[in-house]
Order: sequence, then structure tokens, then C-alpha cells
Amino acid sequence: MHLAIIMDGNGRWAKQRGLKRTEGHKKGAEVVKEITTYCANNPEIEILTLYAFSTENWKRPKIEVDFLMKLLENYLKKELPTYIENEVRFEVIGDISKFSPNLRKRIEYTKEVTKDFKKLTQVLALNYGSRDEITRAIKKMIEKNEEITYENIQKNLDISRDVDLLIRTSGEIRVSNFLLWQIAYAEMFFTKTLWPDFNTQELENILNEFKKRDRRYGGI
Ligand code: FPP
Repeated sequence: MHLAIIMDGNGRWAKQRGLKRTEGHKKGAEVVKEITTYCANNPEIEILTLYAFSTENWKRPKIEVDFLMKLLENYLKKELPTYIENEVRFEVIGDISKFSPNLRKRIEYTKEVTKDFKKLTQVLALNYGSRDEITRAIKKMIEKNEEITYENIQKNLDISRDVDLLIRTSGEIRVSNFLLWQIAYAEMFFTKTLWPDFNTQELENILNEFKKRDRRYGGI
């Protein structure tokens, strides 16, 4: 199944502790590692898509944007052995053309090294926005002169696989331009837990709830 997570609440977590927002992001990155490792070892989960940086996140103070970029680059460097050990393939959705050459190189390198791993595909949404993704998909279709059909639109998206389960942390009940096409029939869970406090136990509880839901896809 395809699990997608909106990792929200890093800033509030830090503020509650009298720390800088960036400390929340640092702790958030540790949770990314924990959750990814769990998913790699849960055979039911094939794809884990994480919303790491949205097309709207550029509006944040430059110092926070720069921190997030550096955090990501360091994460990919430091955790390469974790990807290898857990046989996790790394993928990206979103438009990374605006990222620094070093970060882009690191992204491409991690993708290349991990491309044959099959236990889990971890997809990071980076400079990602669903409306941007759909717009780029339609542009590609016009360039290729493709017929406008459901299937063709889906094929041209950054990620084609439908989401089965969407989780958002931190108590906000909204989707924020994340995978709008792919969540058409997704089950959704919203938890008040802030992302830095999220853990595998809570994920397991949600997965158990998810299994109890009756997914009808519009049928009866
Ligand atoms: C939302 O919290 C989080 C983000 C916008 C960034 C997500 C980044 C991470 C979880 C860490 C780095 C990721 C990787 C893959 C290494 P927020 O800042 O919007 O929190 P707030 O709503 O409480 O202010």
C-alpha cells in the first residue's frame, strides 16, 4: 500500500520547549528515519511519501529555508547506510530545479545508489505542490500531443500510484495541496500528535484502524 504523511508541527513542538523552530525540524528528521525504517520492515507498506517541503514553504524566513535545505542534504549523506541496510529506494516528487547544485547532486546520487532496492520506496515531496504537479503533467501532455484522459493525466504526474492512507500530524484538518489527484479514494487520519512526537507505536495504531475501514471506492 501507499502511505502518505503530512509531517506537521515541528515549529510548535520546539516553541513548547522554548527552543528554536529549527530544533523541531532536527527532531523531525530523526522521526523520518524511525518511521521509514519501520515501513521498510512492514511488508504491507510499499511506498511512503513524506511532505518535506511545499511550494509554499519558500515564504518562510530565509534562515529557516536554508536550514531545511542543509538538514535535508545532511540527512541524505548521513543516512545513506540506513537506506542501504533497510533496502529502501529513494525517490523525489516536486520541482527541484531551484535547489542548490550540491543538494541536487546529493539527491541524484542517493536515487542512483538505491534504485534497485525493493523493500520500500521512500518518496520525499520537495518543492512539491499538487496543483503545480498537475499543471506540469498537462504541459507534458500537450508537448507530447497526448490525448486528455484520466489514465494519461495520471501517467504524467510525478507519482502515479494512488494513496491508500493519508496521515497528517499536529491537529490541522486539511490537505494543503498534497497529492490531490492521488488521494481521491484515500482513507484519512488526523492526529493531534506533533510530528517530532510521532512514533512507530502510533503509526501501528493507525494502521490497525485503517484495516478496519470498509473501502468501497464508490461502490456498495
Ligand atoms: C512542518 O512543521 C514541517 C515542515 C514544513 C518541514 C518538514 C521537515 C522535516 C520533518 C524534517 C526534515 C525532513 C527530512 C526528510 C530530513 P512546521 O514547521 O510547519 O510546524 P508548525 O506548523 O508547528 O510551525
